[in-house]
Amino acid sequence: MKKIIIALDGPAASGKSTTARLVSRQLGYIYVDTGAMYRAVTLLFQEKAVRPADVTENQVRLLLSETPVSLKIVDSVQHVFLGSRDVSEEIRSASVTAAVSEVAAIPSVRKEMVRLQQAMGKEKGLVMDGRDIGTVVFPDAEMKVFMIADPEARAHRRKLELEAKGQTVDFDTLLKEIKHRDHLDSTRDDSPLRQAEDAITLDTSHLTLDQQVAWIINKAKFFAEGSPDRLQKIN
Ligand code: CDP
Ligand code: CDP
Repeated sequence: MKKIIIALDGPAASGKSTTARLVSRQLGYIYVDTGAMYRAVTLLFQEKAVRPADVTENQVRLLLSETPVSLKIVDSVQHVFLGSRDVSEEIRSASVTAAVSEVAAIPSVRKEMVRLQQAMGKEKGLVMDGRDIGTVVFPDAEMKVFMIADPEARAHRRKLELEAKGQTVDFDTLLKEIKHRDHLDSTRDDSPLRQAEDAITLDTSHLTLDQQVAWIINKAKFFAEGSPDRLQKIN
């Protein structure tokens, strides 16, 4: 099968990263979680007491050249680094989650992250998930999927995920947080969350993880063949 780029975009907790990880494993592709990169920049801002509202383009460039964000695969799992420090756990904290959309709205931050993301796609054979992969990072990706799910289903999933980690968070609080982040991500000026015209929608509200992985793998085979007639038929 020819190697392609699979762009997975969609709102928070629609299942992108879990699905992307499984799809990449089955196809022998690299998986890139771009949300983790914006989370790492957010953690860096917090540690250096940088206020997103005041930061200049030069400061961003300097900060990220002193402490670069990078991704490395450790035991088949993507880890995120700030400089030489593995921050994969820390970037999932509630305080990073609450601040990330504001940091991700800063054009100079996006410029730096998109540059890194595009460099990772040079060889193809990549599943990348985020908010602007099909629209901005890889507008020519062979396959674009826009994953959605009811906000309630998404909040429920996040709750289960946190409970599995031993954290208890109220359902309504999670629902509010998810809706608020989606609003910020969809209304920002630079690269807002939106479906690319040539993306296919995958509503995961009533699907199992296995079903959505199989759905993507199945379609990826057609996209790799690149026949426009076939693409019309499966859309
Ligand atoms: O996994 P979760 O849905 O909580 O979010 P994430 O994928 O880790 O992304 C965290 C945040 O990073 C999003 O809410 C966006 O503000 C930002 N993001 C972005 O702006 N562009 C991307 N390509 C990926 C994430
Ligand atoms: O990356 P994104 O924020 O879009 O979602 P995620 O971090 O993959 O979180 C989705 C959560 O929902 C994970 O715990 C999945 O196991 C779970 N889930 C799913 O992704 N798809 C389903 N059909 C059912 C549950």
